[in-house]
Amino acid sequence: MIHSISFAYLKLLIAVFMFMPPAQHGDVLTIGFSQVGSESDWRTAFTESILAEAQQRGIQLLFSDAENNQENQIAAIRSFIAQQVDAIILAPVIETGWDQVLGEAQAAGIPVVIIDRNVTAPQSLYLTRVASDFVHEGRLAAAWLAQATAGKCNIVELEGTVGSSAARDRQIGFNQVIALFSEMRIIVSQPAEFIRENGRKVMEGILNSENPDEICAVWSHNDDMAIGAIQAIKDAGLDPGDDILIVSVDAIPDIFLAMMEGDANATVELNPNMGAAAFDAISAYFQGQSIPKWIPVTGGVYFPDTAAEEYEKRRR
Ligand code: AHR
Repeated sequence: MIHSISFAYLKLLIAVFMFMPPAQHGDVLTIGFSQVGSESDWRTAFTESILAEAQQRGIQLLFSDAENNQENQIAAIRSFIAQQVDAIILAPVIETGWDQVLGEAQAAGIPVVIIDRNVTAPQSLYLTRVASDFVHEGRLAAAWLAQATAGKCNIVELEGTVGSSAARDRQIGFNQVIALFSEMRIIVSQPAEFIRENGRKVMEGILNSENPDEICAVWSHNDDMAIGAIQAIKDAGLDPGDDILIVSVDAIPDIFLAMMEGDANATVELNPNMGAAAFDAISAYFQGQSIPKWIPVTGGVYFPDTAAEEYEKRRR
């Protein structure tokens, strides 16, 4: 009898420990952050905001820039695990290939917050994801273009990083909406990795291979590539924002400057200030609270009429 009671008690203790969040190492939280890179102004603003938020909260943030390379991110996560950080924040460059390393973090008892782009790994391998709805962003961009062109437009698409959920989902959302209009179509779609200079080069090539008179708009998965495309359009002697409409995503200061010049028409905002929500989720986890698997980040759509005002608010 004594034996069976002790055994039941032991089982209860094991169950309690299994479902208890691990204790923090000390008063100061140490969090490893694996960032994609610095491919765009939006990414730089995101990095700056998360570093500032960590500093303000007294969090020790171990920052690792992956230079757009998943292998670097996997190595960084393994290093964070070896250093026994309290938590990890991962901004993944691409969607696939995370199951193994996320499993390693989980086995080490380290919660992982996915931030911004998505992963295909099972949700049970991470604590939560702080992110916007990229599909919705694509839909908003297309809805504006459909209204601006009365549903008739030949579109050039500049794609973000191939394999990233930001590029894939924005494409899905945009295409869902233009499919509703029989005279809206993508005439050419090419990747430019979310990089401004790549946007310029890719657009230059497209203007040489297509008849520019037949291009009604550029739909760019981010503002930086749009700004590159604007340069290429000007270099070709055309008037961006007028001869060729420009719609993109991010709402960085430079796109508002372009709007003030009459060179860009609409941008869908991606708020770069996601650090606070990620840190809040980690704190809540350590307090034993339950966390939803998705913490949404929202943003508006902006046009030239408020560009000067938005530029002043966002300039750094
Ligand atoms: O993942 C979000 C995207 O990544 C941003 O829209 C783009 O600017 C960045 O590089």
